[in-house]
Amino acid sequence: MIRRYVFGNMIETEAVLNKPEKSEGPLPYLEVREEKKSFLYRMDPEERIYGLGENVRGINKRGWIYESKCSDDPEHREDKHALYGAHNFFVADGKEPFGVFIDYPGILTFDVGYEKSDELRITASDWNLEVYIITGENVKDIVKQFRRLIGRSYIPPLWAFGYGQSRWGYKSADDVREVARKHRELGIGLDSIYLDIDYMERFKDFTVNEETFPDFPDFVKEMEEEHIHLVPIIDAGVKKEEGYPVYEEGMEKGYFCKKEDGTEFVAAVWPGKALFPDMLNEEARQWFGNWYRFLLDQGIEGFWNDMNEPSIFYTEDRLSDVMEKIKEYQGKNLDLNTFFEFQGLVTGLSNNTNDYKYFYHERDGEKIRHDRVHNLFGFAMTRAAGEAFERLEPEKRILMFSRSSYIGMHRYGGIWQGDNMSWWSHLLLNIRMMPSLNMCGFLYTGADLGGFGADTTEDLLLRWLAFGIFTPLMRNHSAMGTRRQEVYQFDRIEGFRHIIGLRYRLIPYLYSEYMKAAVRDEMMFRPLAFDYPEDRYALDVEDQLLLGEEIMLAPVYEQNARGRYVYLPEAMKMVRFCQDGIQKEEILEAGHHYVEIPLTDVVFFIRPGRLVPLAGPAVCTKEIDFEDLTYISYVEKGEALYEYYRDDGYEKDYDNPDHITVIRVQK
Ligand code: NOJ
Repeated sequence: MIRRYVFGNMIETEAVLNKPEKSEGPLPYLEVREEKKSFLYRMDPEERIYGLGENVRGINKRGWIYESKCSDDPEHREDKHALYGAHNFFVADGKEPFGVFIDYPGILTFDVGYEKSDELRITASDWNLEVYIITGENVKDIVKQFRRLIGRSYIPPLWAFGYGQSRWGYKSADDVREVARKHRELGIGLDSIYLDIDYMERFKDFTVNEETFPDFPDFVKEMEEEHIHLVPIIDAGVKKEEGYPVYEEGMEKGYFCKKEDGTEFVAAVWPGKALFPDMLNEEARQWFGNWYRFLLDQGIEGFWNDMNEPSIFYTEDRLSDVMEKIKEYQGKNLDLNTFFEFQGLVTGLSNNTNDYKYFYHERDGEKIRHDRVHNLFGFAMTRAAGEAFERLEPEKRILMFSRSSYIGMHRYGGIWQGDNMSWWSHLLLNIRMMPSLNMCGFLYTGADLGGFGADTTEDLLLRWLAFGIFTPLMRNHSAMGTRRQEVYQFDRIEGFRHIIGLRYRLIPYLYSEYMKAAVRDEMMFRPLAFDYPEDRYALDVEDQLLLGEEIMLAPVYEQNARGRYVYLPEAMKMVRFCQDGIQKEEILEAGHHYVEIPLTDVVFFIRPGRLVPLAGPAVCTKEIDFEDLTYISYVEKGEALYEYYRDDGYEKDYDNPDHITVIRVQK
């Protein structure tokens, strides 16, 4: 059951499409503290809190304070409170489970037992919001109701389930060709190569640098012949430059965000001075969306939207104020305080929350200050693209994922998990974030495998890929200036080929799981606690996941570990894929086990009565034979089953019942 409560006059977010009737009377579970603009809930000592989407820390969110404030912050450390998304949905799993969604486009905090260990306090920056309270039989049921409420998750084309190679710093078509050639020569699977800002002409959206990427449509075709899709990045900021059509058109039509005095708000991002299209304004959104055609017409079929928190290096106004202020320090002997003050002025130039108060959106004739709707910007940018794809290419599935997001955006695209680091702890963070993102509707997701910032190591990349082969978005991406991390930069080529090869063998299963999760509003990845709520050990497991109804994953995420402890809530069949092609199966009883997992082995667990289909070897999705499958099964009571969803991966009749067949193995 879903109840909706209205406080004040919320700025519509469109996270929820069909709102239930408004409920009257007091809220169940939450105490309203209007004077503090907050809601309070008292948690039982044993109660667990799940959700909040993209965030730091554990699967159980208790013990920290999280902030919904879309932020461009590349340091995803434990002490942070906000990442790129604002995902205001959680489930409290105590004696009586219930879910809460706060539909609110401004900044919100969730203190989940941080100030007081038994208090969960939600505080908004103003009192115009809607609260949904969802009750149900159990956590899975509550999540499903929530997912129904927010609408079906985005569905990408099949090729987007292949392996993708990316790097900020592929400077020319030849750099990209080299990546393609190496993968193909070494027989390492690959379906896409991502183009970072380097492909643009001086970081201008919807341009291609003709010197470094000449004859772009031919190049796109050349790659397509190799069954490789090029996926260019699009940034939120439009370069301020006379003669650049996107800028000129946007200015002429008045489509950029403006300051209070009506002049354009100028901030700096990659291209230097830039303007933000007013993605909240329907006309401007349509206009920006139509620009994707520039690349669609050249054969492009997928994009990633970046810097859309929106990220601000500095604003024109703040920079001149700071410059003015800095003059005062000149010639002075800076003491402890003045030195830090000075330093703060400079570091405070970037992504300064105060800047959100200096620009406005215009929606249906109403001027809205950005800070009140900050968390909607990335959503609206991706919506611009998604709506344009529906207009321009209605028959086609176009790949789209974004960095910033709000719930609702999950209907238009996926997300990648932003600028992580090549740290072991970020592999663990990736594991933990999968279920919380699924809860909020984000199914097409994955992290930068190998880590974006800092230098990776061969063992980290191997372990990360061994987990990444299960995530819908499987992309190796790294930052300029870090160690190159395409798999062929390392010695254990056989190992990489084997792990990525296994991804391709698993695609019929993974794709089928993805599609079922999307059409049924379910989670593809779940914590053990969701399926084994009576098992006191399962409740605490923070480093294993269930995938669909069939698989349990227990990835290795520590350097030099030769294996790990795994908890099995029931007997399962352990399946091991070794680099030399040997596949081993062993039934393990319920309980704690130490499992050896050498660096190039992939191990997972099959639940009783379940089976997992496997395709033959392939190096791109085009080569996969979805009919010629073998099965790995854990037959129990004489039988193992799988509900297989199969369409052609490109059509859009998702609900056709013919897509489902039941595969049965009997012994
Ligand atoms: C920030 C993005 O998060 C990252 O993935 C990208 O490589 C850089 N911007 C450069 O475009």
